Formats: sequence, C-alpha cells, structure tokens
Amino acid sequence: MRVHIADHPLITHKLSVLRDKNTPSPVFRQLVEELVTLLAYEATRDVRVEKIEVETPVAKTFGVQLAHPRPIIVPILRAGLGMLEGMTKLLPTAEVGFLGIKRDEETLQPFTYANRLPDDLTGRQVYIIDPMLATGGTLIDSIDYVFERGATDVTAVCLIGSPEGLAAVEAHVAGRAVKLVLGALDEKLNEVGYIVPGLGDAGDRLYGTAQ
Ligand code: URA
Repeated sequence: MRVHIADHPLITHKLSVLRDKNTPSPVFRQLVEELVTLLAYEATRDVRVEKIEVETPVAKTFGVQLAHPRPIIVPILRAGLGMLEGMTKLLPTAEVGFLGIKRDEETLQPFTYANRLPDDLTGRQVYIIDPMLATGGTLIDSIDYVFERGATDVTAVCLIGSPEGLAAVEAHVAGRAVKLVLGALDEKLNEVGYIVPGLGDAGDRLYGTAQ
C-alpha cells in the first residue's frame, strides 16, 4: 500500500483549527472542505486521463481529459459526506456512490447499513473518503466491498489516521492497488476507539449529535 502523509503548513494549520473543540460546526465544515481539496490534489495524482486535441485561439495542441470509465467517489456515511464537496471540486465529472458503514459502539466492529453503489465497478478507480481512520475496520470493509465488485484501484482519503488503523489496513490490503492519503498521523487510539489527540467525533462535529 502506498501511503502519503501530508506535510504542508497550510494543511497542518487548518487541521489545528479543526481539532480545537471550540471551533463551531459551520467553520468545521468549511475547513473540512478546504482540507479535502488540498488532499485531493495528492490523491488524484494517478487519476487516469486520455489524450485529446484542443484548439487554442492560436494553434492546435494536445491536452488530456478524465478517461472512461470515470472515477467514482465514495463517501462513507455519515462523516464522509462532509468531504464530498471538496473532492468533487477537483473531480467535477466523477460519479458519486454512497456506502453507509457504522461501527458498533461496544464491539467497535463495522457493519454496512446502506449502499448506493453500482454493482459493477469493473475497471473503475475508486476514491473512498472518510475523515477518521481509527481502527481501520470501516476502511477495510469499504476497500473489500469495491474490489469485490471489480474496482481496479482504490485511493482512500482521510483527514486524520491512527497508527493502529494504518497498520491494520496495510496488513489487510497487502499486494492490492491501494493508496492512502492522510492529513496527519496521530499518536494512538484510546480505549473507546477515538483517535488521540484527534478531533473528537467527526460526524457530530460536522452535523451535530442526531443519529
Ligand atoms: N471516528 C471519529 O469520528 N473520531 C475518532 O476519533 C474515531 C472514529
């Protein structure tokens, strides 16, 4: 698995504001969007393109456009929704599918409760977006899900990861075409599965506590 951990002062600055417990939801949402756009720049480095001819006011030349089949962006509900706008800004013609995976608060095991994705993902490049890579269970399930349907490569974009989650995903995907882009790699997971120092519950901070 290829791993890219962002090392850019603007990303660290925006993450610092995001982590602050006093940052209100509207600012939090705005920052998530901005952060994703910055991370998407790295995440889409290998997006497939095809050559096209372009006529400028001066001459004919060649450029590129996104290749077919188009990439598909998969936000993991619900917190991944907060990252969607930032990702589609960079890939406006990508398709969007949804996967609802929630973790059981006691066992910390993920289970799928919603799916709005094509059954056939043959040849597709998939971008999975989920703000927090905690135990890795949700990401592992999502990666398996899209590969089982024929996806050829998967890029996951997370704002913050834990060393435990990173190790679990790395061990699980061994040898498959997976890339992980992280805004930061934090210290550890605590006993209830939260990333430390992290930013708390990303879904709650984006959307409040309604379930
Ligand atoms: N999910 C969150 O929203 N935050 C964490 O710290 C871990 C999982």
